[in-house]
Amino acid sequence: MNRSTTPYKCHLLVCTTTRDGHRKSCGDGDNAVLKGALKDEIGRRGWKGLVRVSSSGCLGQCDSGPNVMIYPQGIWFSSVALADLPEILAAVEPFVQG
Ligand code: FES
Repeated sequence: MNRSTTPYKCHLLVCTTTRDGHRKSCGDGDNAVLKGALKDEIGRRGWKGLVRVSSSGCLGQCDSGPNVMIYPQGIWFSSVALADLPEILAAVEPFVQG
């Protein structure tokens, strides 16, 4: 095993868990599409290599989902929709420039 520090300023963890309607889950909303849109916009802004967008499994707050977390800054967005993309990117911007 090797140990190092993260090469990224922050990670966007986009919960895309789906339970196929058996129970509320983030995959019921826009998160899968949002993840792709976030990746596209981060690339367009030249933030690739600084910000990593990853699908995550359940973050344990399903009833407030769809959920997106900025880590390690600990910013949590719930009830997220595709229209929230600009607000999420605005929250990321200071960490990229800092
Ligand atoms: S399904 Fe997303 S937090 Fe549980």
